[in-house]
Amino acid sequence: MTKITSNIQEAIDLLNNNEVVAIPTETVYGLAGNIYSDKALNKIYELKKRPHFNPLIVHVNSIDKLKLVAKEIPEKALQLANAFWPGPLTLILKKQDSISSIISAGKETVAVRVPNHPIALELLNRLDFPLAAPSANPFTSISPTSSQHVFEYFNTELPLILEGGNCEKGVESTIIGFENNNPVLYRHGSISIEEIEKEVGKVTVFTNDDVAPNAPGMLKKHYAPKTPIILTKLVNDLIEKYKGQKIGLLVFNSKIDNDEIKHQEIVSPNNNLNEAAANLYAALHKLDKLDLDLIIAEEFPNFGLGKTINDRLKRASE
Ligand code: TXA
Ligand code: MG
Repeated sequence: MTKITSNIQEAIDLLNNNEVVAIPTETVYGLAGNIYSDKALNKIYELKKRPHFNPLIVHVNSIDKLKLVAKEIPEKALQLANAFWPGPLTLILKKQDSISSIISAGKETVAVRVPNHPIALELLNRLDFPLAAPSANPFTSISPTSSQHVFEYFNTELPLILEGGNCEKGVESTIIGFENNNPVLYRHGSISIEEIEKEVGKVTVFTNDDVAPNAPGMLKKHYAPKTPIILTKLVNDLIEKYKGQKIGLLVFNSKIDNDEIKHQEIVSPNNNLNEAAANLYAALHKLDKLDLDLIIAEEFPNFGLGKTINDRLKRASE
């Protein structure tokens, strides 16, 4: 049975012993293991049922540790790291030879970030190694933003979940790679593309619609609840179309008055996209438990974190 605890020492003991534990970050919870332990790394893939072509992301406690993991770091990568770390920015960089091919899934690159969560940072400070930690959910399902979500996914297979409260950001980190030293966005995330461009100028967006999945987080179907979900600008029309079915709604800022609706989640009563992102996955987890026939999700304004939210809802609805 999984233990949920705030005792960091217990997590340290397990991690030093090649075990995998769930840890909180400011974005979502991660399934963490020692990057130098093949046993822990293989266990992460096994727990997530993640295909071995999909590489793991590495967490370090400071920019100084970056050279343990990556080499030949482009100027713009350093600029972004200085601007956003600790924080929800993942950089794809050329990997150090010491990074195992289990982490990089055979690629020459590695994903790395410094998380901005006091418990994750204290844990990393007290360990002698960085942590590989993909989101703590089975492959293609919704990422967890609370210890309870993690528990519901892995309740018998995981020895420990480190309690860190609800994740402040609530969506995954933004992933930036480099081509000819120029930044390329592989995954919309918790830092908007506008904020990234303010730092380093124009960023090319690579989505899975037109290129092979460079970041498998860009796989078309992902972040999906079990209940079918439809993303639309025309919520009322769809309610009408599916009349008679058990419908749940996920809406941005205001309640929709309609007797056909069994339940609705308003993710930001304050009309704020950051708040909406923070509440998004918890709302999906909740709707998914209500035995609905269908979730209708409202399309968000397509700027700032609205882009990230639309990206997730679109993939959830594939
Ligand atoms: O916010 C986050 O990034 C969370 C927290 C726990 O840090 N982690 C997370 O991990 O979302 P994960 O594994 O669910 O998503 C990381 C994405 C995956 O889609 C993976 O394919 C991609 O990063 N990735 C990892 N290494 C890569 C590489 N070398 N090249 C391209 N993409 C890579
Ligand atoms: Mg994930």
